Amino acid sequence: MATESRKMLVTCALPYANGSIHLGHMLEHIQADIWVRFQKLRGHHCTFVCADDTHGTPIMLTAQKLGMTPEAMIAKVAEEHKADFADFLIDFDNYHSTHSDENRELASEIYTRLKDNGYIQTRTIEQLYDPEKGMFLPDRFVKGTCPKCKTEDQYGDNCESCGSTYSPAELIEPKSVITGATPVLKESEHYFFDLPQFKGVLEEWTRSGALQSEMANKLAEWFEQGLQQWDISRDKPYFGFEIPGTNGEKFFYVWLDAPIGYMGSFKNLCDRRDDLNFDEYWQADSNAELYHFIGKDIIYFHSLFWPAMLHGANLRKPTNVFAHGYVTVNGEKMSKSRGTFIKARTYLDNLHPEYLRYYYAAKLNDRIDDLDLNLEDFAQRVNSDMVGKLVNIASRTAGFIAKRFDGKLAEGIDQPELLAEFQAAKESIAAQYEGREFGKAIREIMALADKANAYIADAAPWQLAKQEGMEQKTHEVCSMGIHLFKVLMTYLKPVLPQMAADVEAFLNTELTWDSLDTVLTGHGINKFKALIQRIEPAKIDAIIEQTKAELAADQAVSAPALELEHNDELEKEPVAETISFDEFAKVDLRVARIAKAEHVKGANKLLQLTLDLGGETRNVFAGIKSAYQPEDLEGRLTVMVANLAPRKMKFGLSEGMVLAAGPGGEEIHILSPDSGAKPGQRIM
Ligand code: MSP
Ligand code: ZN
Repeated sequence: MATESRKMLVTCALPYANGSIHLGHMLEHIQADIWVRFQKLRGHHCTFVCADDTHGTPIMLTAQKLGMTPEAMIAKVAEEHKADFADFLIDFDNYHSTHSDENRELASEIYTRLKDNGYIQTRTIEQLYDPEKGMFLPDRFVKGTCPKCKTEDQYGDNCESCGSTYSPAELIEPKSVITGATPVLKESEHYFFDLPQFKGVLEEWTRSGALQSEMANKLAEWFEQGLQQWDISRDKPYFGFEIPGTNGEKFFYVWLDAPIGYMGSFKNLCDRRDDLNFDEYWQADSNAELYHFIGKDIIYFHSLFWPAMLHGANLRKPTNVFAHGYVTVNGEKMSKSRGTFIKARTYLDNLHPEYLRYYYAAKLNDRIDDLDLNLEDFAQRVNSDMVGKLVNIASRTAGFIAKRFDGKLAEGIDQPELLAEFQAAKESIAAQYEGREFGKAIREIMALADKANAYIADAAPWQLAKQEGMEQKTHEVCSMGIHLFKVLMTYLKPVLPQMAADVEAFLNTELTWDSLDTVLTGHGINKFKALIQRIEPAKIDAIIEQTKAELAADQAVSAPALELEHNDELEKEPVAETISFDEFAKVDLRVARIAKAEHVKGANKLLQLTLDLGGETRNVFAGIKSAYQPEDLEGRLTVMVANLAPRKMKFGLSEGMVLAAGPGGEEIHILSPDSGAKPGQRIM
């Protein structure tokens, strides 16, 4: 191979050990796995590790609720996670745990270095404490009435009704989510990592690599807001690692030892593998490349805390951090009640893993956009591309080779120039894979598949085979088809490893990047077996139904309060899965008549609306200028949120919100009630 072999270490974010793997997680693992398999196919020395993230308050409490020790619970979950990933063909070199000796030693080593280098400070802080449970409460474990808008039952960090953020001590009538007791303020000494000292280092790191532009922008924003010291300690009781020298009183916050878990997993692997040297990968001047695949919700940890920790401990920083967006299903957040919070296992019970691998690949790019798994489109796309286009190439040519040519390919192929065109695509396809533009790679591969099918339709071996004296031509046409298929399957090998293995068995040859140019003459191949079936729509319905049934079963056994606490303590952007009926009922939707609509001086997007609610009028600024002329709106009925807290905008006070659908620009459509609705009527 022309390029020199690179040494690379690749990771996925470590899944929490108190929940099942779902199709959201799978996006990340499939994305990283495809990238790693591609690197290996190209001959690079690429190592892929992950682990379960096992520490923290939610895990401790979930285990208690299940009547298990945390150790027993995380062991059970680890087995499930490993099986899920294996069955999705995720080819980890190692899958370890953050609750391991390697990780304990590395965490304490890194902490000690940070401390010795002057990056750890202590100070006493006040926090809410559950006197009944005898523990300090993370923000999301306190609920009470919002101090600003007085909505009840809000979490300790922010109000879902008015959006304001506050500290849990500001809540009115706070209650512990665990016991219902009224928490008290209590002092405790905490350990802080002095992130602000790393501003220069981090700015330089940001500039050195090829960070995604969205990530670079986020970082710029965070630098501007100013970096804060980071609280890395938690008081007992806590399931985690004790901070050295604290007599069992203080523990590392889970996010301190979680990324170190990348190293712990790698260390554990190095101890078993002669070709890997731990220090070579982690020392400050390492030549090896280090890449982390993560979701958009944990960028802060991976682009600020983690590089700073590594630098502060005299270790190397990541070469790059690749963030992806969130999976939505049918255009909406994955939802338990809609049956779209699909577990990896539920999917696997019904469908082949490579369908999803293909679909995700076809939609992935190098950006942080969310990715929609539209189930109808999924089935349709898989059936048309994988079955209709790809497999079709082999199934229309392989039979002749077996039946008429004794299972041997011809001495020549029909159109060497066409094969050369397929082979020449390798540079561009490799560049797309390398740049994580998998969707573009797939489009290019499928365009070639279309060409292959057109070629076969044109050459029509089924007709040639019936003609006198066309024996050799038929043979060469079919061999040509098989070669085109071989090239396409080589390109798809990172995405479809199982199918590629089946094709290798069928073709009696290994599909490698180097053998893309090889023409197999007179080569014996095996009988062609159907490689993959079409997706039956009934299977998709079965997945949804099974997911709903699992929810019902889960609800029967678990206390809902703790279920949400998957991602505890702040910093992560909260990702609510569903809202309760009560939460929904708080939204006061009303029919409104647009009494007046006017342009707003200096505003590019806004129109000023005067809304008549049947007696009461409201002033609302709506971002619909690109779609409507004011005069077309006057007199129309629409739907508004009547109890949205008034918002002060540059142009005045906005007292509510008009509902509209569409992506924006000219594509905005305000909602209208059916005729007969009266201004002011409540929408139920
Ligand atoms: N344990 C932490 C990560 C520690 S890394 C040192 C964590 N775990 S998680 O289980 O909540 O998430 C694991 C990964 O899955 C994260 O990268 C997260 O962004 C990703 N996803 C979780 N839900 C997702 C979707 N719905 N869609 C895409 N990715 C999602 O965070
Ligand atoms: Zn509020």
